Order: sequence, then C-alpha cells, then structure tokens
Amino acid sequence: MIDDRPLIVRALANETLERPPVWFMRQAGRYLPEYRAVRGDHTFLTMCHNPELAAEVTLQPLQRYPFDAGIVFSDILLPLESMGAELEYVPGTGPVIRNPVRNGADVAALKDFDPIRDLPSPMETIRICTEAASVPMLGFAGAPFTMACYLIEGQGSRTWPETKRMMFSQPAVFQALLDRIADAVGDHLQAQIDAGAVGVQLFDTWAGALTPEDFRRWALPASRRALARASGAPRIFFTKDSAPFLPWLREVEADAYALDWRVDIGEARKILGDVPVQGNLDPQALHAPHDEIRRRVSQIIHSAGPKGHIFNLGHGITPDIDPEAVQAAVDAVHAHSWS
Ligand code: CP3
Repeated sequence: MIDDRPLIVRALANETLERPPVWFMRQAGRYLPEYRAVRGDHTFLTMCHNPELAAEVTLQPLQRYPFDAGIVFSDILLPLESMGAELEYVPGTGPVIRNPVRNGADVAALKDFDPIRDLPSPMETIRICTEAASVPMLGFAGAPFTMACYLIEGQGSRTWPETKRMMFSQPAVFQALLDRIADAVGDHLQAQIDAGAVGVQLFDTWAGALTPEDFRRWALPASRRALARASGAPRIFFTKDSAPFLPWLREVEADAYALDWRVDIGEARKILGDVPVQGNLDPQALHAPHDEIRRRVSQIIHSAGPKGHIFNLGHGITPDIDPEAVQAAVDAVHAHSWS
C-alpha cells in the first residue's frame, strides 16, 4: 500500500523515513526579492492582517524551492496588539511596543484574546494556502516567556532587564502575565489547527536568556500551559540556546523539539529520548560555499538518524542570505537517501 501522507506529517509522527522533510524558519522574508517587491508596497502589519497578501508571500518560497511544508506568514507579536499593546515595526529597530506592561494594573488592563474575533488573518491564510499549495501548512505562536519579554521591555533586548526586574521583584504579577499570554497563544494555536494546520510551532526564542532554574520555574510551565490548550495536530517547541535545558525540555510536553545550532542534534537526541526533533543548521552557514553547506546538511542528517527528523535551520533565515544558498541546502536534503 502506498503511504501518501506528507513527509512532514510522518516525521512528526516519529516515523522512520527515506529522507527528512525540510522547511526553514522565516522561509518567507526579506532575503527573497519577490518578498521585498510585495513589502515595498505595504507595511509589515498590513501584510500580516491581509490574508491575500499574507498568502501570496507564504507561497513564494514554496514556488521557488521544494520545501515540504509552508509556514503561515504572520508574527508572534500580533496577539499582543489585540490584547492592547501599541505595536509598531520600526525599520532598523524591529518591534516596538509604545505602552509596555510594568505592573499589576497594566496586566489587569490587558484585553482577553479571541483569535477568531481578534486575529482571523492567519487562519484565513492557512485556508487559502492549504488549498493553493501542494504541501501542508504549519501554524505558530510565540511562547509566553518570549511574548512577555517584548511586552514588558517594549522592544528587543539582549539582556531583557525590565523583564527580569519584574520576574524577580513582582513574581505574582509576572506569573499572572505569563498565564494570560499562555491562554491566548494556546487558543491561537488551536484556531490554526482547526483552520487546517498539520502542525504548529511554539517559539520560545528568548527563554535561553534564563538560568536553568528560572527556565524551569517560569518559561517551561508557561509553555506547557499554552501547548496543553491545543490538540489535534503535533505541537513543536522551539527554544534558542536550549542546550542547557535539554534534561528538562520534555516536561513542556510537546510532540517535537526544535533545536538551535549550538548542539549536535544526535547528542541532543541521546538526552531527549525517543521524540521527533527538528533542526539544526546554523543559519549563518548559508554564507558558506555550497560544498560546505552540503557537507553540513549531510552531517546533521547523519547525526539525527532516519527516525522522526525534520530538517530546518537552528533559527530564522536572515535578510542577507543569498537565495541560491537556500536552494543548495534544500536540494542537499532532497538528495539524501537512507537506503
Ligand atoms: O517563519 C516564517 O516564515 C513565518 C513568519 C514569521 C515571522 N516572524 C515573520 C516576520 C515567524 C514564525 C516569526 C516569528 C517571530 N517574530 C519570532 C520568533 C522566532 C525568531 O525569529 O526569533 C520573533 C522573536 C518575532 C518578533 C519579530 N518580528 C522581530 C524581532 C522582528 C524584527 C526582526 C526582523 O527580521 O526585522 C519581526 C519582524 C518580522 N517577522 C519580519 C518577518 C518576515 C520582517 C518584517 C519586514 O518585512 O520588515
């Protein structure tokens, strides 16, 4: 009997495959000239809130490369806008929130988030792309700790001082904030699954700024709470800088774990046990000569082994990457065969 389930679905089910499926974080974005052309006529937020435009750029990398999945074009911070954050994307600075959350009154003033009422675009985009593309779609949301970082700080940071100040000095307020965000993003994941996403990824990009103790106390239970609200499709958990947390990572109770490039994927599997893993090419390795890109792709595939591996980068593609390098990497994954 021919198994016609998509490779990404089979890998997320922890099956043994001939080659890993491949998709890249930020596969739709500024490294693609066709993205920049659309983006030149619209703000980033306009594109996120317009399902036709969002679908157009979601499909762009799928038309160019043989990716095995699409990821809906949107941003992790959009639910915060619905909850009352005055969100802007400032060229050169990135996301800025003009009214950051700093105390209990600010947390209490946050509005409840109903994804279907407040943020319908990602679900509509998933429906359009599921219809239009030959590969399935993934949805996503930001993890509570990473979302709280932007909401408290008001912009990106390397050290997140205001976030940690609240965590240490107002722990009950910080917990209340994580709980509010966890429920919001959990519902957002569920809505995307209901719209047809075959899997969803929760991005805890900044949890790596925590000590292992603080990760276990704050970020991990908040992500578990978010993931527990979503069912019906596999849930992937991504943390950057997660190597120190590997012994506890599975307490988040995800269905698959996305790893950054600072850990050997096979070594990580020895700690994580028998669970699907995703990753983990250094995004900056896409600046290497194509032979070196191919060597690294092969090294990762061999280290991960044939069971339950989804090939990806260890973090998103940066705007300075040559589209030809992405082609070389994706082709190298497709060229692999375990038999
Ligand atoms: O992966 C994909 O292709 C899907 C779309 C996606 C975007 N952002 C589009 C985007 C996803 C999954 C994200 C996740 C996201 N957004 C994260 C978690 C993962 C990560 O990359 O760390 C975070 C922390 C954000 C917040 C965010 N959004 C930042 C820090 C920035 C500015 C940095 C930058 O690249 O300019 C954004 C803007 C953003 N999100 C862009 C895109 C394509 C660039 C917007 C533009 O066109 O100017």
